[in-house]
Amino acid sequence: MIIAIDGPAASGKSTLARALAARLELTFLDTGAMYRAVTLAALQRGLAPSDEGACTALAVGLALGFDAEGRVLIEGEAGEPAIRGAEVTAHVSEVAAHSGVRRALVGAQRTVAAEAVAAGGGVVAEGRDTTSVVFPAADLKIFLLASPAVRAMRRAQEEGRPELTSAYEADLARRDAHDSQRSDSPLLEVEDAVRVDTDTLSAEAVLDHVATLAAVRRPV
Ligand code: DC
Repeated sequence: MIIAIDGPAASGKSTLARALAARLELTFLDTGAMYRAVTLAALQRGLAPSDEGACTALAVGLALGFDAEGRVLIEGEAGEPAIRGAEVTAHVSEVAAHSGVRRALVGAQRTVAAEAVAAGGGVVAEGRDTTSVVFPAADLKIFLLASPAVRAMRRAQEEGRPELTSAYEADLARRDAHDSQRSDSPLLEVEDAVRVDTDTLSAEAVLDHVATLAAVRRPV
């Protein structure tokens, strides 16, 4: 079974996808972590995030994998927590806008899913284009929404820094604009996705709701 979850930055996609994968015994596929991994590797090698050719060559040659918990491995080494650092976060939208980088990573994502399905399982994939580009024939597509104010508040609370709420809101608005306005695979709400607005729902309520939808859609 393939479940694809898209939505803007900090809408709760990772929390939902990870928990849903655990509940349904599917593989969690964090596609954003792959874009972050390429960005981290580019910065470590002194490549300019704006250099499409160099970033593409890097993405094509970089060995990305996942550990048993779905955390990205870069050339066999743990990508966490470095891929969540401020410098990577500041540059990842730019790297993710390069078509060559996207082609390389979409291919890798489809391979992960095909292997999981062949083994009798499946994936819960989350990102910006998993419902529209990577898995257009997914069994279930979810578009997760939350208002910018709520997303910023959740992120600031998670980090114990409530004073940063308005700075986070500005940063999220910048990333939303970049992810939605790029020409290749912009963040898009596809027609056959189920829209789930999480502003007034707890993480558990969202999980229960989507797990119920998945039970109905599961192929027999
Ligand atoms: O979900 P995240 O914050 O880890 O994503 C990091 C960046 O990667 C974000 O700018 C959007 C981009 N991304 C993308 O372009 N396509 C995906 N499928 C996943 C993430």
